[in-house]
Amino acid sequence: MVQIYLDSANLQEIEEALSWGVISGLTTNPTLMCKEAEPFEFLVKKICALMETNPVSVEVLSTIAEGMVKEARHLANQAPNVVVKIPMGVEGLKAVYRLNQGEEKVSCNVTLVFSVNQALLAARAGAAYVSPFLGRLDDIGWDGVGLVREIIEVFTRQGIDTRIIAASIRHPRHVHEAAAVGAHIATVPFSVLKQMARHPLTDIGVERFLADWDRARRGEEIGR
Ligand code: G3P
Repeated sequence: MVQIYLDSANLQEIEEALSWGVISGLTTNPTLMCKEAEPFEFLVKKICALMETNPVSVEVLSTIAEGMVKEARHLANQAPNVVVKIPMGVEGLKAVYRLNQGEEKVSCNVTLVFSVNQALLAARAGAAYVSPFLGRLDDIGWDGVGLVREIIEVFTRQGIDTRIIAASIRHPRHVHEAAAVGAHIATVPFSVLKQMARHPLTDIGVERFLADWDRARRGEEIGR
């Protein structure tokens, strides 16, 4: 079954979303982290504790492999459920490869993926996850869900077990389409999660049931 991750670094949103019982992991990025008031490392530890054993993706800031590896090891030491987010690119691939060597392997989520070939290279280098960005592809007139579908087709045909996270989700339709094409995971902002749970006809339905109940208790006849 497709897993829903929360794409957020906001502690209130995370606690609220967790209470719904639908969240299996969490992704952050530098933009999300820097919006929060808490110091970076405190936030990482606090989020990881709230998420218990569920994976939490935290992104490195370095642009060269050596720096990425160093940051990744530091992040991985903050909590056992940290997954290190590494930006796609040659330096990113080198970092992922190195983080998969030796005794202390670090689980990596290769982010900012915009093509099947990028996803393939990330998987070959050892990524546990790849994150194609649907919304940002749609923004430039391409087909975000189409990219997710193609990556899934290629990974399935090639027997690649790297998990595919549909990211840069902008609206509820992205989520159901990503699930329909077989994404393993969709990472959604809290605003989209709230939209997913609602439908105007559900609200109208609840209002009508309660109104009918009240009318019946007052002895009025219920039409329809
Ligand atoms: O998970 C990646 C996501 O946070 C990026 O979303 O809306 O900034 O493209 P967006």
